Amino acid sequence: MEKINFEYNSSFSLNDLSLTIKENSIYALTGNNGSGKTTFLRLLVGLLKPKSGTIKIFNELLTRDKQQLWRLRQKIGFLFQNPDDQLFAPTIGEDVGFGARNLGLEEPEVNKRVEWALEAVNLSQYTKSSPYDLSWGQKKRAALAGLLVMKPKLLILDEPFANLDFKSIYNHLQIFKTLKKEQKMTILFTTHNLFFIEHWADKMLVLNDGRAIFEGLPKDGLNLPKIKQLLGSYNELLTLINQK
Ligand SMILES: Nc1ncnc2c1ncn2[C@@H]1O[C@H](COP(=O)(O)OP(=O)(O)O)[C@@H](O)[C@H]1O
Ligand SMILES: [Mg+2]
Repeated sequence: MEKINFEYNSSFSLNDLSLTIKENSIYALTGNNGSGKTTFLRLLVGLLKPKSGTIKIFNELLTRDKQQLWRLRQKIGFLFQNPDDQLFAPTIGEDVGFGARNLGLEEPEVNKRVEWALEAVNLSQYTKSSPYDLSWGQKKRAALAGLLVMKPKLLILDEPFANLDFKSIYNHLQIFKTLKKEQKMTILFTTHNLFFIEHWADKMLVLNDGRAIFEGLPKDGLNLPKIKQLLGSYNELLTLINQK
């Protein structure tokens, strides 16, 4: 993305954002609530149109014409922050199969992938369940399975670990690790959790009110006083809790 500018009617704007994501790497987009992370992801996948600037995905200029969006979306898995926005079919099995069918795969291959994806997210026994009968974490995993069946080259994850217990986070991380290794997948994720940025991301971009205030290696950025101050930390909370 190069020099991307965008503005909502609400007057929130993204200003002059540029970034390059290396293939097969993990890229973190961070910043506080309302800093523009989700908006940025929507621009990247063509759900929103920038006012100016250029976006290239897989070396192709994003023009947002219907055919292109259709083609690109077959290579991109976008995990929404809220799984309720993503799941729509009556059963989990049908929901997960939808993406694979859309790729035009033969039914036996669709079934094989659905089985594989549901197993990968530990939901094999829920094939016939309705999304309404699943917990938040299970729904999130079901939504992820719906992306995995397409074997996307780029996985875009909006707050993938939010609201999940440690066991589920472990399970998700394990899946992402395998995909990155076996499918050479590239991962772009948003979070305000510094743990994942520090230990999981190769690079990061920090947004503050729609502006980039840092781009580079997490270990460099996380040590900058202005970023520490902006993002806060457990230490800061601990100091407050322990104050007499
Ligand atoms: N559809 C919309 N129309 C107008 N303003 C919006 C819309 N979506 C988000 N915003 C505003 O844009 C800002 C950034 O939102 P968002 O990209 O969701 O931030 P983040 O994901 O970092 O929490 C917020 O102030 C939000 O209220
Ligand atoms: Mg968001």
